[in-house]
Amino acid sequence: MIPFITVRGGRRLSGEITVCGMKNAALPILFASILVRDSVTIENLPPVTDIQTTLRILAAMGARVDMLSPTTARVNAADLDPDAVPPDLTTRLRGSSYLLGACLGRFGRAFTGLPGGCDFGVRPLDQHFRIFTALGAECEPDANLLRVRAPRGLRGAAVRLSFPSVGATLNGILAAATAEGTTVIENAAREPHVADLAAFLNACGADISGAGTSEIRIHGAKILRGCRHAVIPDMIEAGTYMAAVAGTGGRLRLRSVDPAHLAAVSEKLTAMGAQISASGDRLTLCRTSPLLGADIEALPYPLFPTDMQPQFAPLLCLSSGGGRICEHVWESRFRYVPELCRMGAEIRVDGRCAFIRGGAKLTGADVAATDLRAGAAMVIAGLCAGGSTRITGVEHIDRGYPDLEAKLQSLGADVRRVGAREP
Ligand code: EPZ
Repeated sequence: MIPFITVRGGRRLSGEITVCGMKNAALPILFASILVRDSVTIENLPPVTDIQTTLRILAAMGARVDMLSPTTARVNAADLDPDAVPPDLTTRLRGSSYLLGACLGRFGRAFTGLPGGCDFGVRPLDQHFRIFTALGAECEPDANLLRVRAPRGLRGAAVRLSFPSVGATLNGILAAATAEGTTVIENAAREPHVADLAAFLNACGADISGAGTSEIRIHGAKILRGCRHAVIPDMIEAGTYMAAVAGTGGRLRLRSVDPAHLAAVSEKLTAMGAQISASGDRLTLCRTSPLLGADIEALPYPLFPTDMQPQFAPLLCLSSGGGRICEHVWESRFRYVPELCRMGAEIRVDGRCAFIRGGAKLTGADVAATDLRAGAAMVIAGLCAGGSTRITGVEHIDRGYPDLEAKLQSLGADVRRVGAREP
């Protein structure tokens, strides 16, 4: 049976949630363990399938992986074989492209199958290869594989990215961490997970400065030693629950968040009528007055995150004024729109913008999660809708949301999974 999630909407949500570690930070950090000669212990890993797949990739390549708890892994990649890449696993997630930077840095050669992940139209890797070639690697084109070699080793260089690509910045850091000399990445991505990868590598003995700004300097280290590192909280998981409670009305307390990472999301929700306060690693959101309309421009960090725009679409449908979402990061990230329209939304997509009519009454329907955050948007729409919503494509949701149903149930939601999780 194809598993699905059923949501009966119309309940106000209230309660407290502990936010997990950030999937998109944990992925490059796990692959970075390849650069380290002894064991690393990584804490606060989110229990989601993308992380399990990554640990299976490392183990299949010969790394020793011990789970010390459900959220802590010890990885020793001393005996890792760069030729033992399991293509059936690497094609499941986008983050497998980090194998390239990590194996290139450690072995001077790397290959992987074409990385999978969410489908947003074209997802090129030219900026990744731009950094690799600047460092002296040769890229070997192949229809089904990505392959890079640096027979004479990697040498630091200055590279300017044409777009602040998160993946290219992370792969550049991985490749340069142990290269000879100094690498400078200009127009680098500033996302918190870039800074978290640098913090992990620096704890292992790397010399990386400027991560979190648009210019990163990496002085190659001769050898990296093991360390213990806790992954930063997931701002997108946090933002998704904030959007859910802003949609249903009610009161949410979040634990283990970094409110600074959520500034753009909080600012938008406040403009839409929510009240938000934060102190230390706690954040509270309360929404009692009607939702107001807003316009959203999805852009690289620190601006409004593309990974939150789908979750805001149901809120704009319910708001008094509606609004516009313009997507400036991905070519095509509105595949969720026809699904939302099945529930009564009125949305017109024109190029990179979706124009959303406010004042809608959403009604439960059978819908599909077309990708990870689109799945979260369907769950939020279901929570806000009258009647029952059945969401298929839950394997997308399981890639990035730990214990989604249990967390929502703890807030008082009527959410149920039917059918087993993928192993
Ligand atoms: C990361 O993808 C995230 N994935 C995405 O989150 C997120 O949407 C994205 O960053 C932007 O924040 C992971 O961390 C695993 P990019 P990534 O390279 O690194 C273009 C989620 O929901 N580009 O910053 O692949 C590209 O086409 C996922 O958790 C090039 O042109 O994103 C896009 O338009 C979905 N050439 C833009 O840059 C390149 O070589 C941003 O891509 C690389 C990218």
